[in-house]
Amino acid sequence: MPRLDIRLKTDLSATTVCGTGPERTEEKVRCKELSLSGCLLVGLKTEPQSIFALSLVLPVQGRIELAAELVKTSRNCAVVRFFFPNRQALSSLWGYMRRQAVELDICPYCGKGLDGARDTCTVCGQYLRFTENSYLDQHLQATFPDRIKDRLTKLDPSFLQQVIAFMDNNIMGLNQEASEEEFVGTAPAILKVFDMIRRAASTEMNILILGESGTGKELTAQAIHEKSVRKDKPFIIVNCAAIPDGLLEAELFGYEKGAFTGAVASKQGRFELADGGSIFLDEIGDLPAGLQAKLLRFLEDRTIERVGGKAGRRIDVRIIAATNCDLAAMVKKQNFRNDLFFRLNSFTIGLPPLRERGEDKVILAKYFFTKIGRAEQTHLAGFSEAALRTIRSYDWPGNVRELENLLERAMIVAESNVLDIDPSWICSPLPLGEGPGVRARGSLRDQEKQSILDALESCGGKIYGADGAAARLGLKPTTLYGKLRKHGIRSPKNDGQ
Ligand SMILES: Nc1ncnc2c1ncn2[C@@H]1O[C@H](COP(=O)(O)OP(=O)(O)OP(=O)(O)O)[C@@H](O)[C@H]1O
Ligand SMILES: [Mg+2]
Repeated sequence: MPRLDIRLKTDLSATTVCGTGPERTEEKVRCKELSLSGCLLVGLKTEPQSIFALSLVLPVQGRIELAAELVKTSRNCAVVRFFFPNRQALSSLWGYMRRQAVELDICPYCGKGLDGARDTCTVCGQYLRFTENSYLDQHLQATFPDRIKDRLTKLDPSFLQQVIAFMDNNIMGLNQEASEEEFVGTAPAILKVFDMIRRAASTEMNILILGESGTGKELTAQAIHEKSVRKDKPFIIVNCAAIPDGLLEAELFGYEKGAFTGAVASKQGRFELADGGSIFLDEIGDLPAGLQAKLLRFLEDRTIERVGGKAGRRIDVRIIAATNCDLAAMVKKQNFRNDLFFRLNSFTIGLPPLRERGEDKVILAKYFFTKIGRAEQTHLAGFSEAALRTIRSYDWPGNVRELENLLERAMIVAESNVLDIDPSWICSPLPLGEGPGVRARGSLRDQEKQSILDALESCGGKIYGADGAAARLGLKPTTLYGKLRKHGIRSPKNDGQ
């Protein structure tokens, strides 16, 4: 592989500067070879132990200062690597090198061919038109992947996510709200989700998001909306399981005055409120049959009719639906309309459960630690080794929300300056649904009901808050309310809100 940079013989005076204040030392050396990313120094008597400043005197451009580190030494010579210089230092460096490069008779990359009449070296194929003003930009663009690859092995995966988000938000300017910064993950399956979010955002298709409870379905819906052209218009969330069946139609489609007892004035529904933007139909599997038909009609003619209304109203809304149910199985059992399923299923994003995201468990834990720590001004310095082992080895049936809730609780009760996680906290019988921790008695439905009753009892009927039943079960309070309704459990009077 040819070198990334052209390397030239030089004889420049240079000074290495190590340390600061009373510990500062300087040494005069000669720079005998120079490239855009490093040089060869001769005459260095003491080896700098860490990063040092290298001051180079260029004949026309004058003195430039670069941050550098020692790569290796042999006899009187030291090979030095530069940390990528700022634009000004880089153009001074290039200005000097470019003048020398025009007189070359061999390729400064591979040291072999050079065909002055051509643009590129006949041997290594590098672009050689050093006199062109665009050379530096072209050269940087061509060598960028190799430069990044060289640094990749040294990068902590959690930084990779930050780098990608930084590129998207700050360099590409894709999303000023930075919602993706709050969407953490480096597992291949999550990177695929990020990619699908981008693709989904650029279309007007209906989107169906599937995933277990707490895997980030709402976060995904929000990210799609925020990256779409509709981002400045409303994003309306409807949890179909949390609104009683009898009220859902009026809530979604609005009603006219006098449509039913208590309808003293007309009211807009959530579809109308979302006009121009997106509507997120969460827990779509809980949509009653009558409303499935009404939603299908909307998808066909983009018109809604208020309850008690006579005329349809055209509404421009993009639908994003989500569920943790197996919709295909519901279709087979005729609990969900086949035609509606096919309309919604045209662009599906599947969120992987946390147990399948490998090191993301720890990356997410560190993310929540920082986020909660900032809000609570924590004294904690980080995780104990045992806590990280517990996080890695647990299956997290409540997924990301369970991890977030657990960290919140653990950080509140922490006494030492490192965060410990008592394995008994997460092995308590909390899981709902099909998680691996589900107790092996009764039907799934019975187990779910029993888990909810247990949680309500141990939280004194409190639903909200870090010590409420929703947090304990790894659910959102609205989701828990939906489940209370489903199991016919009476809502507590004092829910802690
Ligand atoms: N990849 C992620 N990065 C950061 N936070 C996340 C991630 N995934 C989920 N979360 C957080 O976890 C919590 C649960 O996410 P969300 O509400 O989107 O899940 P959900 O799948 O809609 O859950 P449910 O099925 O219970 O409604 C939220 O606080 C969310 O911000
Ligand atoms: Mg949700």
